[in-house]
Amino acid sequence: MSNDIIRVKNVSKIYNNRLKALNDLSLLIRDGEWTSIMGPSGSGKTTLLNIIGCLDSATSGSVFINDTETTKLNQKQLTCFRRENIGLIFQQYHLVPYLNALENVMMAQFYHSVVNEKDAIEVLKRVGLGNRLNHIPAHLSGGEQQRVCIARALINEPNILLADEPTGNLDQKNGDLVLNLIKELHNEGHTIVLITHNSQIGKLGQRIVNMIDGKISS
Ligand SMILES: Nc1ncnc2c1ncn2[C@@H]1O[C@H](COP(=O)(O)OP(=O)(O)O)[C@@H](O)[C@H]1O
Ligand SMILES: [Mg+2]
Repeated sequence: MSNDIIRVKNVSKIYNNRLKALNDLSLLIRDGEWTSIMGPSGSGKTTLLNIIGCLDSATSGSVFINDTETTKLNQKQLTCFRRENIGLIFQQYHLVPYLNALENVMMAQFYHSVVNEKDAIEVLKRVGLGNRLNHIPAHLSGGEQQRVCIARALINEPNILLADEPTGNLDQKNGDLVLNLIKELHNEGHTIVLITHNSQIGKLGQRIVNMIDGKISS
C-alpha cells in the first residue's frame, strides 16, 4: 500500500507537435503533504498542475489520483472526478463576473450535487467574507476575490487543493490572509500542491519541487 495520493508517471505534454511543455516527468505526492512547485516562467508548472487537476490531458504517460488513472478518463468522467476530488485556486480567480460571491460558490455546489445556501454562507464566513455575500467580483478587492475562489474550491470538500500562484496578484496583507487559510486547510489534512515564484512561500511546503524545461531539476 502506498500513501501517495498523486502519482505522475513519465508524463509528457507536447503543444503544436513540437513544444515539450513537460518532458517525461514523474512525481509522487503523499496524502496530506504540502508540495511547493517552483521554477522559471515557462518551465511547465501550470501545465503540470492543470494535468493533475484534470483540466488538461497529457500527450503521453499516466497520472493516478488515489486509485483512479485519470489519464484514462474521458472528458465527462474527468469533469466528474475533478468535482469530487480536486479544488482549484488560480492566480486570476476565474469567478463568474455577473454572479455575486454567494452565487459563485453555489454554482460549484450545483455542478457537484445539490445547492445548499446555508453551507455556501458557512464557507464564505470561514474565509472572512460573511459581509460580502451579495457583492459581485467587480465590487470585491483582489484579496476578497481570491477568498471567494478558495471558498468555491472548498465547498465540495475535496481532499486535494491545487493552487497556481494564489498570491501572485495580491499585496502582502491579502497574500498573508490567503496563505493562512491554506495553512489551516493543510493542518486539517488537505493535500496541497502550490506553485509559487516566491521562495519564502515555497518554504511553507514540506517539500519543494524545482522544475526546469518540463522536468524536475531537484
Ligand atoms: N495552450 C498552450 N498552447 C501552446 N503552448 C503552451 C500552452 N500552454 C503552455 N504552453 C507552453 O508550454 C510551456 C510551459 O508553460 P507553463 O506550463 O504555462 O509554464 P509555467 O507555468 O512554468 O510558466 C511554455 O513554453 C508555454 O509557452
Ligand atoms: Mg504558470
